[in-house]
Amino acid sequence: MDTRFPFVDWFRNSSPYINAHRGRTFVILIEGEAMANGRGEQLIQDLALLHTLGVHLVVAFGIRPQVQQALAAAGIAPRRHEGRWVADTAIMGHVERIAAEQRLWLEARLSLGLPNTPLHGVELTAVSGNLVMAKPLGVREGIDFHHSGEVRRVRAPAVQGLLEKGSLVLLPPLGFSSTGEVFDLDAAEVAQQAAVALSADKLILLGEAPGLYDESGALQRQLTPAEAEPLLAGATPGSEAARHLTAACIAARHGVARTHLLSWHDHDALLGELFTRDGVGTMITQHRYEQLRPAELGDVGGLLELLEPLERRGMLVPRSRERLEHEIDDYLVIERDGMVVGCAALHAFGEAAMGELACVAIHPDYRGGARGSVLLAEVERRARRLGLSALFVLTTHTAHWFVEHGFGPADIAALPPLKRDTYNHARQSKILVKSLA
Ligand SMILES: CC(C)(COP(=O)(O)OP(=O)(O)OC[C@H]1O[C@@H](n2cnc3c(N)ncnc32)[C@H](O)[C@@H]1OP(=O)(O)O)[C@@H](O)C(=O)NCCC(=O)NCCS
Repeated sequence: MDTRFPFVDWFRNSSPYINAHRGRTFVILIEGEAMANGRGEQLIQDLALLHTLGVHLVVAFGIRPQVQQALAAAGIAPRRHEGRWVADTAIMGHVERIAAEQRLWLEARLSLGLPNTPLHGVELTAVSGNLVMAKPLGVREGIDFHHSGEVRRVRAPAVQGLLEKGSLVLLPPLGFSSTGEVFDLDAAEVAQQAAVALSADKLILLGEAPGLYDESGALQRQLTPAEAEPLLAGATPGSEAARHLTAACIAARHGVARTHLLSWHDHDALLGELFTRDGVGTMITQHRYEQLRPAELGDVGGLLELLEPLERRGMLVPRSRERLEHEIDDYLVIERDGMVVGCAALHAFGEAAMGELACVAIHPDYRGGARGSVLLAEVERRARRLGLSALFVLTTHTAHWFVEHGFGPADIAALPPLKRDTYNHARQSKILVKSLA
């Protein structure tokens, strides 16, 4: 269908992402190079738009080129070691001044509300403070790093409180120590530590490169930390590539679901990554080792652990170890990192061409991820392969879930004769049937 305004179609297509991002926490790193190259203004407009759409934003920013320029102007050549400069008192004076200037510039731009500017009508409160605690790098290989430090802790409850009040949190590459000192920090580490401490939904690292490339020069769309880490070997210590890759891998390993590596050179990168299906950069995400497979005898222990709490609450009929062992071939399990997190059984009643779907359970920590639906689909495939024409289920607590998956109410007469005879009237289970025709 032709549309008068192509933008309207685009807007419609982006609505699932708008809903998905609302209320989520994103930590975004803007490197100093982006500001030095005049990209600050537009990035701020993009941040304001995300804020308006209900995203909780933490913005870490870097200041390296600005500090380098100031040091060069002052005739100071910083000593470097292991990719970090040694921030002595003279250098630290420049670092503190420039961090304050950049923060003030960001706060000023985030306050811009003149008519005909993108931020008109947006009441955006940007907050910064002593939110990152630091510790000194100390003396390494005989070199005293003075005020160069590393993150000791991000004060997550304080940041969380600010985000919940609707503020945008700014994190300069500085940290404070319990001795009352200020330390120079790596902005990528600040962003990564904040993302981990806040259990952020996304960490977005805006750097020079559009993402990570394989040997043939193709942009890698999605990598696990294990796949991304070998690329570190080819990166210069302290380079942006090394810092971002390290931050992304640590974040992924510590529970940040997605880290995106994007380029600030690309004006569309941030919104393009967030509001289009394919995205634009490289996403690093922890490999989720998860497998749906037929159960084996070795799974009985895991099954008992999964089922026991549900049996105690009367949601499932208790099953003994012996019974599970005897019927193990009827079971499917979802195994994740060696743990049984879901199961379902199909007991065939061949003479009636029906199958009983039983013991559908997903571990409480893993519910709501469509695992129940995936298990049900696999049971249906298995039933069809066995030539069964309908599934039935007896349930006390979960009737609506089954109805939403195509089951309809039936009475006891619909059950295969063998099942009818053993139906436990005291349990008052609802009988639901789904045709596989
Ligand atoms: C029912 C169950 C297997 C669903 O697993 P799951 O992986 O979360 O399933 P899905 O992600 O495919 O579906 C989740 C949806 O089902 C809904 N749902 C879960 N249990 C429900 C119930 N008892 N009644 C109605 N809806 C239910 C969830 O609210 C969610 O809806 P939403 O997507 O609108 O938020 C899981 O909740 C469970 O293990 N329950 C306890 C055991 C049980 O009752 N088993 C049935 C015994 S026969």
